[in-house]
Amino acid sequence: MSSLVAAPLKDPGLDSKEARQRKKYMVELFGYQARNYDLHDDLIGLGVHRRWVLDMVRVIKGFMQGRASARMLDLACGTGFVAFNVARQFANIDIDGFDISQEMVAIARERHQKVFRGRKINFWVGDAEVAYREKMYDIITTCFAFRNFANKNLATENVFRALKPGGVFIIQDLTKPEHQPLKGFYLFYMKYILPIIARVLGTERRAPRYLYNSVQLMPKNAEIKRLLESSGFTGVSCKSQTLGIACLIVGYKPEG
Ligand SMILES: C[S@@+](CC[C@H](N)C(=O)[O-])C[C@H]1O[C@@H](n2cnc3c(N)ncnc32)[C@H](O)[C@@H]1O
Repeated sequence: MSSLVAAPLKDPGLDSKEARQRKKYMVELFGYQARNYDLHDDLIGLGVHRRWVLDMVRVIKGFMQGRASARMLDLACGTGFVAFNVARQFANIDIDGFDISQEMVAIARERHQKVFRGRKINFWVGDAEVAYREKMYDIITTCFAFRNFANKNLATENVFRALKPGGVFIIQDLTKPEHQPLKGFYLFYMKYILPIIARVLGTERRAPRYLYNSVQLMPKNAEIKRLLESSGFTGVSCKSQTLGIACLIVGYKPEG
């Protein structure tokens, strides 16, 4: 008889073969894709991710009510998509971002120099699964990346440690609809149609298969909620976006 309570998500370990292979592939994939990443994202997703990020910005807006300033970290920042969206809307948030791909960070720095020169934004190369700061940030975001972390518990614990008490963690990511027939249609699209579009665009050869697998392996919203709660977060909420193909998950580090 199957248990009614799902088993907690297990990490394979920081030095596991799975984690090492996943990170090696991330570095190769995003190293290859960095120059065209933003264009491909717009073409493949028809720009819908630009609407999803507005949900993230709305949470930040609510969090900033009554605060004079804040410090934010964008985990797995890529080319700076979230960092620049936040910089555009909030003059009173200092922004840091890091990513495991040197090439993605290089593009983020270029864009910073070209478009947001006046703003102090720091980008560096780093791994979300390896502990970084302690009680330093009011806001930590991660967009289209949580799914890629092999050690999701570890990444979440690192976020918890790096947040100040009262700080907020916001996850935006792709997932899959939880019910048929939408789930079937969506996975069919991801498995058979997306690779054709990706081939036309010249996307890295293994990327469509990886995207399909990563969406398949993305835990359900309720499981991510449980993971955050077991790491100490409270007030965790999950929002399904666009018929359940994306999700927004928000949790708070308790005060004091
Ligand atoms: C789909 S991209 C999203 C980039 C950006 N957040 C955005 O919304 O455009 C996923 C990013 O996660 C990064 N990444 C994957 N695993 C990582 C890890 N363990 N630590 C830091 N960055 C990681 C990749 O290098 C890549 O830039």
